[in-house]
Amino acid sequence: MRSRVSKQTPNLRRQGISCPYPASSSLTYDDRLGGFLVRDSALIAEILHSLRFQVVDYARHYLEISERTGLDFAASVTAMERMPLANEGPAHRELRTRSARAMSDDWRENAAAMERHIFQLVDTAFGGEGDLDLVGQFAVPIFNHLYRLWSGVTLERGLRIAEVFCGRMSLNRRQRVDAGLRRLDDALNGSLACVPNDVAMSFAILASDSLVGSLSLSLWTLFSQNDGNRISDIPFPETLPSTAVPYIDRIATEDVEIRGIRFSRGQRARLMLQATAGVECGRENDLFFGAGRHLCVGKAMTNLIWKSVCASLAQTDLRVRVVNLAMRRPDHVFHYPESAKVFLYACSNRNTLRQDFPQSRRN
Ligand code: HEM
Repeated sequence: MRSRVSKQTPNLRRQGISCPYPASSSLTYDDRLGGFLVRDSALIAEILHSLRFQVVDYARHYLEISERTGLDFAASVTAMERMPLANEGPAHRELRTRSARAMSDDWRENAAAMERHIFQLVDTAFGGEGDLDLVGQFAVPIFNHLYRLWSGVTLERGLRIAEVFCGRMSLNRRQRVDAGLRRLDDALNGSLACVPNDVAMSFAILASDSLVGSLSLSLWTLFSQNDGNRISDIPFPETLPSTAVPYIDRIATEDVEIRGIRFSRGQRARLMLQATAGVECGRENDLFFGAGRHLCVGKAMTNLIWKSVCASLAQTDLRVRVVNLAMRRPDHVFHYPESAKVFLYACSNRNTLRQDFPQSRRN
């Protein structure tokens, strides 16, 4: 198997992908947020390792909304109470251990099944000339396969449950998310899940948009940089070049000073992970998956998937042109493409246009 893997780390912004949080300086105060936007990777890493910063207590947030409005957000509260990323202390340790165990239990079989699936999918999706949507026809099937291995359930198309983390959604949208969580809970209750239902619920919320978005944006980034080139000639980086998780939030639990920056108790620090793309060395070079006690439990699986995708693509002799990237809107949490369309063609003429193919194979 021919594999061209380099350590190059292209930056999302250089591809002209619009980012809701452009990097202007390493630290800015945001009035609307009532906190700092942190872009400096060393500061981000330090905050993530500090016990004086905690994750947002989302369950309490939903309970407060329920009390204020009289509306029922029970499914959101339950999901957040059982989510490692929304807890600290002993509760977090227990939830994290359960998640990590579920991930490692059938690791060998799941990893082998994913590698096989990706190899077949690359063969089908990148096997002939025409249009290809990197989201719907590539990244979503990869996530769906992985999720079925864990839970036995196929996620509903367009189920936007990851928005449960969104801080500024309308009540109507919150109710739609809550209803989506209830439907998934019902589906999990009726399935022969390999992992416990609450873990399967956390994985659906944490892994769907982040994995689908990061995979498709990363491929889009590489194809944009290599527009018109043979796919097998692309120098694929060892790790994802782009992330669908542009930031994560932390709250200071006391007045604290880090690297000369004062955070007051209760203040929010928004850690702009996307701004850390391209950092080459040190413990800050790998912040796309967070760090410290909340380090992503899906990191190894995501890296394995990325490596399998790159190794399979490195055997594809078609050329690729980028056609259109449509980002999902409104989207306050994830950097998620609705579609990322590319065009594949075999001819040696680099000036070939998509119109030259009267009938696309996928129309
Ligand atoms: C197999 C797919 C994935 C699964 C099952 C998964 C699962 C998880 C879990 C359970 C946590 C919480 C850990 C804790 O609080 O102790 C987490 C955190 C995190 N995940 Fe993932 N994840 C996946 C893919 C991804 C991808 C593709 C990205 C982005 C490139 C990502 C980015 C993150 C980040 C940044 C955190 C830390 C958040 C924070 O500290 O606030 N994850 N993930």
